[in-house]
Formats: sequence, structure tokens, C-alpha cells
Amino acid sequence: MVRMIVAVFVIMMLAVPVFAAETVTYEKDIKGIVANRCLVCHGPQSPTMEEFKKDEEGYKKKMKGPRYDSYKSLIVVVKGSDAGALMRRLDDGKNTKDGKPGNMYTYLGSTDAERSANLETFKKWVGSWTLKKKKELSKKELEAIKASEK
Ligand code: HEC
Repeated sequence: MVRMIVAVFVIMMLAVPVFAAETVTYEKDIKGIVANRCLVCHGPQSPTMEEFKKDEEGYKKKMKGPRYDSYKSLIVVVKGSDAGALMRRLDDGKNTKDGKPGNMYTYLGSTDAERSANLETFKKWVGSWTLKKKKELSKKELEAIKASEK
């Protein structure tokens, strides 16, 4: 009996770090991808979301999207006031009616393999991948979006 309890305890001790290592977080996994693949156009030289919304056409011409150089600014397009925008832009289109990828999908990598690997990481981070717009998302669906910082 005691041996069984010890065995169960040891298994638990071994399993916890394995599960913990699998959680995809902004700090550990997403920040680096964004830095490599997105900040050329969404970095410190880019407008904040509010500035961007005031002159979307002007910024588009300059190839500048809103700034995503912090967790706080990125989360807005994941589960904030513009929830789902990140998912719609990054989706590969494989599960949509028209089959078209989002227009930021191409920036996820320089090869198909890199793009799909990075998309997988984003999907794990978001937890509940949805292409719905903020107003179509129920409270429950919003809560299912994880996108944790640490
Ligand atoms: C070559 C420049 C460039 C790169 C690289 C780039 N983007 Fe963009 N992005 C833009 C521009 C310009 C816009 C605004 C025009 C538009 O909506 O398509 C935009 C718009 C967006 C939007 C929608 C913003 C809104 O609310 O309207 C999201 C989300 C986004 N990008 C995410 C990303 C992510 C994530 C990456 C990295 C994988 C990325 N982008 C890489 C230029 C870029």
C-alpha cells in the first residue's frame, strides 16, 4: 500500500513539469515569433491601435499595422475590444468556406512548414481558435480564449 502511494506520488511529480512545459505562453513562445515575423510592420515605429483606427488607409499605404510589441497591445486583437482579429488574419483558410488564408498568414514564416508550425503555436496559445468577430462571440466563447502571458 505504502509503495503504491509512493509510486503514485512519484508519477505525479514527474507529470507536473511535463504538463507545465506544454503550456504555450506569450513570454515563452509567442513574443519571439512576433518579434521575428511581425514587428517590422507592427513594432515601436507603428501607431497604437487608436492612432491606427483614425487613419487606417494612410498607415496601410506606409505598410504599418497597429503596434503589437507588448502583451497588452497584442491581447486586444485576441480577446479584447477587437477579439478574434488575430485569428482571422493568421488562419490558413483550411477550415473556412472560401478556403482563403487570412492576409497575415503569409508572414508567419518563409516556408509552408514554418508557417504551419508557427500557426500551431498560436493555436495552442489561443486555446480556442475562433474566426468570429467580437460581437458574435458569446461570453463563454470569450472566456475559452486563453492566451496567457506567463
Ligand atoms: C510587411 C508588413 C507586415 C507584416 C510583416 C505583418 N503585418 Fe499585420 N498588418 C500590416 C498592415 C499594413 C496592416 C493593416 C492593413 C490590413 O488590415 O491588412 C496589418 C494588419 C494586421 C492585423 C489587423 C489589425 C486591425 O485591427 O485592423 C492583425 C491582427 C495583424 N496585422 C497581425 C499580424 C501578425 C500576427 C503578424 C506576424 C505573423 C503580422 N501581422 C505581420 C502589415 C504587416
